[in-house]
Amino acid sequence: MRELIKRVLQGDEERSAVEIAGWVRTRRDAKGFSFLEINDGSCLSSLQVIVDDGVPGSEQVKDMLTGSSVRVTGDLVTSPAKGQKWEMRATEVKLVGAAPEDYPLQKKRHSLEFLREISHLRPRTNLHGAIFRTRSRLAQAVHRFFAERDFVYVQTPIITASDCEGAGEMFRVTTLDAEKGGKAEEDFFEKAAYLTVSGQLEGETFACALSNIYTFGPTFRAENSHTSRHAAEFWMIEPEVAFCDLEGDMDLAEEFVREMVREVVKEMTEDFALFSKFVDKGLEPRLRQVLEKPFKRITYTEAVEILEKSGRQFDYPVSWGDNLQSEHERYLTEEHFKCPVTVYNYPRSIKPFYMRQNEDDKTVAAMDLLVPGIGELVGGSQREERYDRLKKAMDDHGLSEGYDWYLDLRKYGSVPHAGFGLGFERLLMFVTGVANIRDVIPFARTPGNCEF
Ligand code: 4AD
Repeated sequence: MRELIKRVLQGDEERSAVEIAGWVRTRRDAKGFSFLEINDGSCLSSLQVIVDDGVPGSEQVKDMLTGSSVRVTGDLVTSPAKGQKWEMRATEVKLVGAAPEDYPLQKKRHSLEFLREISHLRPRTNLHGAIFRTRSRLAQAVHRFFAERDFVYVQTPIITASDCEGAGEMFRVTTLDAEKGGKAEEDFFEKAAYLTVSGQLEGETFACALSNIYTFGPTFRAENSHTSRHAAEFWMIEPEVAFCDLEGDMDLAEEFVREMVREVVKEMTEDFALFSKFVDKGLEPRLRQVLEKPFKRITYTEAVEILEKSGRQFDYPVSWGDNLQSEHERYLTEEHFKCPVTVYNYPRSIKPFYMRQNEDDKTVAAMDLLVPGIGELVGGSQREERYDRLKKAMDDHGLSEGYDWYLDLRKYGSVPHAGFGLGFERLLMFVTGVANIRDVIPFARTPGNCEF
């Protein structure tokens, strides 16, 4: 039976009749035998296979070019070569699928831009194999983190009629003919429907029943942002906690980020070593600091003061009441504090309707967690649990219809509650050092781009 190379390499004794399968990374021919480097994606390392002329199937070796798929049976023996514990002496080889010489991933360094154009083949590179194994491992760690803390996993809807963030960045879902048009009442759902920008509002209904919940799923934003940190389709982790205030929310976000970093540094050692060596030399010290030091916490007002006093010429000048731009966020976390920073109590006027109003009447109990290299990783808040205040905020935002169910949570047994959203791809960028969101998502969807 075929074994994964990851398992084979973990063995601690020589064995015979081991069967592996994978894709040829390189082949070198010598007198009387050939070397094949075979990778099956189960781990970063390839297995070196020696095929002596004359073993069954060896006449096919000449066609085993880079990229072709093969099956090999052989003896696992201690390798005399440096840097590898095991190699395989083939007793039988078989070419499964040939790859002609135009296979795009020949052994040389390719630019990330080029690899994006062949997103269907890039998982076969060392870097993308490592990124997507890390992505999988972290997704499992997300569920484990919440399960260990008694959170209930809720699958909030992907198609929705509510606009959580109120930013007008929703993709319309319709079966109406684009050319002919038609009224929303004639549409499939008999009202306007969209792809969700956040599972929060629906998540709140479950927190106000099951206490601690989280969602983890795809979210969609039709924002025309051409940056390295925005995608039109991304995955978000959104916990929501009943009987919790802003401080509890910030504590949870900090603990969560630290646990995710720990998972990668401690459990993904081989892939993490690749990121540290080839992607970003500053990665390891940055992540070690996350594990060892508490994050900084400052109010929005303090953040503005720091930015004003910085003496820096920002492209966008800062003034109290404006949204912090990415350049401001990065100054705070990368240059001023040089560690993750949670900024809280933002001006009410720049935040969505659902955030809890503070007693000063100017700010809301919102928080953003900023990290070096990325800027905003988490956005969250304590939710407005007071019926009258929420109703007024919704009216002010023009949300008078269709949200009765959301107000009901405040009408029947309302509780203080809080939650946050963390962009899964931004987390992956943070833990791998990869600078562009398009490289940590299997098939990126960005303005003007929906290939594959
Ligand atoms: O700050 P945001 O918009 O918050 C919400 O959607 C809240 N409803 C979440 C909540 O409280 N449950 O988004 C949360 C996070 C951001 O901090 C960022 O990490 C990520 O989602 N994010 C994006 N990631 C990639 N591409 C985009 N276009 C993103 N927009 C937000």
